[in-house]
Amino acid sequence: MSDKPLIYLDHSATTPVDADVADVVKQTMLDAWGNPSSRYGKGNEAQLVLQTARELVASQLNCPPEDLFFTSGGTEADNLALFGAMQTARKKATGNHLIVSSIEHSAILRAAEALKDEGYRVDVLPVSSDGLVSPDTLAGMIDNETVLVSVMAVNNEVGTIQPIAELAKICHEHGVLFHTDAVQAYGKVKVDVEAMGLDLVSVSSHKIYGPKGVGALYVRDGLDIEPRTRGGGQEKGIRTGTENMPGIAGFGKAAELCARHFDEDAERIGALRDEMFELIKQGVEGKVRLNGHPEKRLYANLNLCFEGVEAESLLQALDLDGIAVSTGSACSSGSTKPSHVLLALGLSELEAHSSLRLTLGRTNDRDSISRAAERIAYHVNRLRAMAF
Ligand SMILES: Cc1ncc(COP(=O)(O)O)c(C=O)c1O
Repeated sequence: MSDKPLIYLDHSATTPVDADVADVVKQTMLDAWGNPSSRYGKGNEAQLVLQTARELVASQLNCPPEDLFFTSGGTEADNLALFGAMQTARKKATGNHLIVSSIEHSAILRAAEALKDEGYRVDVLPVSSDGLVSPDTLAGMIDNETVLVSVMAVNNEVGTIQPIAELAKICHEHGVLFHTDAVQAYGKVKVDVEAMGLDLVSVSSHKIYGPKGVGALYVRDGLDIEPRTRGGGQEKGIRTGTENMPGIAGFGKAAELCARHFDEDAERIGALRDEMFELIKQGVEGKVRLNGHPEKRLYANLNLCFEGVEAESLLQALDLDGIAVSTGSACSSGSTKPSHVLLALGLSELEAHSSLRLTLGRTNDRDSISRAAERIAYHVNRLRAMAF
């Protein structure tokens, strides 16, 4: 680790907890420590905290609070959605087929693989070279055994924003359920379960300046999904176990702050992202290629391919300069495998290994992005010169 002040450019991996959120977490631990299932004053106090947080998190999805179920994070919400919907269909003998996109997070891809091992039929929906799924291709893959389609709202590596309302509509025309992993979208781009016709939506707190280890799954009213755990029946039995009250209260506060900063974040962070891209292009001698869609992408995301540069060496050099970036999704970093997302977009292994993900957020300002752009260009030029 560097002793220089940190310039954090990995907000899609996680975000620092907002000070106001930390206050709410602490206050909940110290004051509202009752069990929300207890039927006396201290329990009622905790129940009120739980209800308030549920309303705040739900408001960012425009869903009824009672249709939102807290989990331990996005991973659990994704697993609950996929296993829950598929197992119910098997029980009711209504179908056996699941479709997921090729650029999903490992929480979806590994869950889909596990379902395949259990005898479900799983198909993978391809994406175009800019990371978009095609509604027509999806329509062609649905058959009379299809139960569920899962396509993420915003990709965590290249930031591509999928046409989820259109995909959900196609699913419903065929009597199929639609799930979206909205972990990277939530609080940043509009996800409206009513307007978009979504059946199941996963969200997570630590991508929006909330605590880690807490998330939620929206389940459309009347939809039956098989729980993954059995116990005391909390969260209407869909996700039983005493609720993570400090985490949930913090998630609620973080969602409230997202609502307050929604437009300002998009405008300010989007402008910084564009400026940073320009500065990098100006400073780098030779080619800089943008991975993913040029316009249909999260305002905070830049994923760049610097041919001839080992992105891992670039990451290490930037770390010594106090700049935190990523070479792929955080969950798979540490592994030497090229990103499955970049390969699905058609990049070669070499190109994937030469790609850097920069994700901006509330911690960044103009000074920090111009210093980071200068250091990135310096190291890219240096590493390229060494390679030849
Ligand atoms: C798209 C996506 N889905 C799911 C997850 C997992 O969420 P969590 O870390 O809350 O388990 C992540 C986290 O990186 C993500 O980016």
